[in-house]
Amino acid sequence: MASVGTILAQLFPPEPKWSVDSIPDLTGKVAIVTGGNVGLGKATCKQLLLKGCTVWLASRSKSKAEAAIAELKEETGKEPLFLALDLNDLQAVKESAENFKRRSTALHILICNAGVMVPPVEQVTAQGYDLQFGVNALGHFLFIQQLLPIMKSTSSPVSETRIVWVSSSVQYYFRGPPVNYDNITDTPSRKALGTQQLYCQSKFITVMLAYHLAKVLAEDQTSNVICIVLDPGNIKTDLQRHNSPSMLRSIMNWIILRPVSSGILSQLFAATDPEAAHLNGKYLRPWARLGEPHPKTKDEAEQRKIWDYCMVAIQTYK
Ligand SMILES: NC(=O)c1ccc[n+]([C@@H]2O[C@H](COP(=O)([O-])OP(=O)(O)OC[C@H]3O[C@@H](n4cnc5c(N)ncnc54)[C@H](OP(=O)(O)O)[C@@H]3O)[C@@H](O)[C@H]2O)c1
Repeated sequence: MASVGTILAQLFPPEPKWSVDSIPDLTGKVAIVTGGNVGLGKATCKQLLLKGCTVWLASRSKSKAEAAIAELKEETGKEPLFLALDLNDLQAVKESAENFKRRSTALHILICNAGVMVPPVEQVTAQGYDLQFGVNALGHFLFIQQLLPIMKSTSSPVSETRIVWVSSSVQYYFRGPPVNYDNITDTPSRKALGTQQLYCQSKFITVMLAYHLAKVLAEDQTSNVICIVLDPGNIKTDLQRHNSPSMLRSIMNWIILRPVSSGILSQLFAATDPEAAHLNGKYLRPWARLGEPHPKTKDEAEQRKIWDYCMVAIQTYK
């Protein structure tokens, strides 16, 4: 659990020092944004397009993606490309990455932005994992593993490629550490933990996986890929669609939720700013500032354990 000071700073961050005006020219760069059809993902695509980036908008829904692509084209004059990606199904994730690699020879920026929050607890992935773990953590883990070869070959000693993984401040509120692996598959204890804690668990695991990935990448002398993990802030999007409405929640949301234009700052900074090239293995808090996640996300033995668990899961799924 974070200190009161950390939690207050997260809830009421100081004014941003960084803005989208600082995004460099991205002509010639190729990016994938998962969950690019709506919310933070769509707004992130827009800024990348405005800077000349070739953007692949990854979405599980062709019709939602087409609507977003039409809107983005209208707003920017540039057209993102559609990449079908359903993070709920490991086979579909693998096919999505293969599809991308058939159609593009480079990948400079991968923004793992898609996410699901507090769906009904009964919902599990195609392979039977807790839905929030499956989409937010494991699906992205496989997508990253599949895309690492192209990101490595796109990088050079003087030009890194970047993986940006969107976590959340809810990782501070995960009651679990260490992770109880019974709560990842569909067991009575997973259901008893409840959908709010399962969301916290998925975002806690995201930080651990990103930290371990950063270490693996740093040790690889043959390529130049970095990984940054972040909390975008508390932002007014449709993410809370599964939360039942209540007066208290509406008041809280009115107090703490900020516009999407603020929520995209950390991921765009991490993905594009020259200074962020030095931030492999770092955690960003709102708005594009260095932060510290839950101290137990830094437990290297636990990072290794969840990494190995995910590796086995993506190598043995049916
Ligand atoms: N908003 C916040 O306050 C906040 C705070 C902390 C962290 N975050 C994180 O920020 C990220 C973006 O969230 P947002 O606020 O922009 O929420 P959002 O508007 O609900 O967008 C979530 C995106 O993820 C996609 N997605 C969900 N399940 C998927 C699946 N199985 N396969 C592929 N895509 C899937 C959604 O697709 P559909 O449109 O098809 O559902 C949508 O494009 C998430 O990772 C979220 O956890 C948000």
